[in-house]
Amino acid sequence: MKEEQKDFPLHSFYGDIHASYDRVNRIFTFGRDRAWRKHASIELLKSRPHRVLDLCTGTGDFVLELARRADHSDKGIMLTGFDFSSDMLKVARKKQKEFQKRHRQAEIHFIEGDAGEMPFEDGYFDSMGITFGIRNLVYKNSRASRHLAEMNRVMRTGGELVVLESSKPASPLWRIFNGFYLRFILPYLGGLISGNLKAYRYLASSSKNYYTREEMGEILEQAGFELIRSRSLFLGSVMLLVLQKS
Ligand SMILES: C[S@@+](CC[C@H](N)C(=O)[O-])C[C@H]1O[C@@H](n2cnc3c(N)ncnc32)[C@H](O)[C@@H]1O
Repeated sequence: MKEEQKDFPLHSFYGDIHASYDRVNRIFTFGRDRAWRKHASIELLKSRPHRVLDLCTGTGDFVLELARRADHSDKGIMLTGFDFSSDMLKVARKKQKEFQKRHRQAEIHFIEGDAGEMPFEDGYFDSMGITFGIRNLVYKNSRASRHLAEMNRVMRTGGELVVLESSKPASPLWRIFNGFYLRFILPYLGGLISGNLKAYRYLASSSKNYYTREEMGEILEQAGFELIRSRSLFLGSVMLLVLQKS
């Protein structure tokens, strides 16, 4: 796994960009991020889980998508969004308030904390989703093994993990275009909108140098998850993996 001595200050980074995060996301993905989360939520709900964790929930888009699609009848689904940025969670809670005016029966809890020390019992969750967050937890992060061990610990055996993340495209031509976009457009546009060029330089470089779908699958398999299915989205710039805790 790629690691370096000094980690990027992710916590303050998300504190700085929380207000513009959703807007920048929509622009950078040409509005496709919503459709990708929709695919991921469909995958996660297939096993009809009861307790679900949205790890690195950020502004809550994925957990809200799950709440929108889940069956809330019977014993229903209990959704938890977990993140270490209180600013990102502030935005999530605001959206939740609006959402629950229309979907009263949805049960969503947002909890602040670090993925390396989660306040949940062993095997507590039936399923876990992580959308555009695993890169933060493993790429050039000295606590990568700790994060992966915690993800494994809080899941029940046989539970499913759904990962949505940017990925290195397989096609050389698309890789060149994608690399150009990430190097010369995303950091400057993101910097302009959010006022934080350094943050978007990190985001762009971590996306550009990130793992392929196969590499990500291997890292998660080493952490105790078995790959069940995976697919590429957006010509391979985005990956969707479904794994099971073995
Ligand atoms: C790129 S955002 C993704 C947000 C959301 N899941 C989405 O689909 O847009 C990554 C999130 O991971 C959170 N994060 C990064 N490292 C974390 C850690 N060690 N523990 C908890 N949250 C973390 C950040 O605060 C940020 O909100």
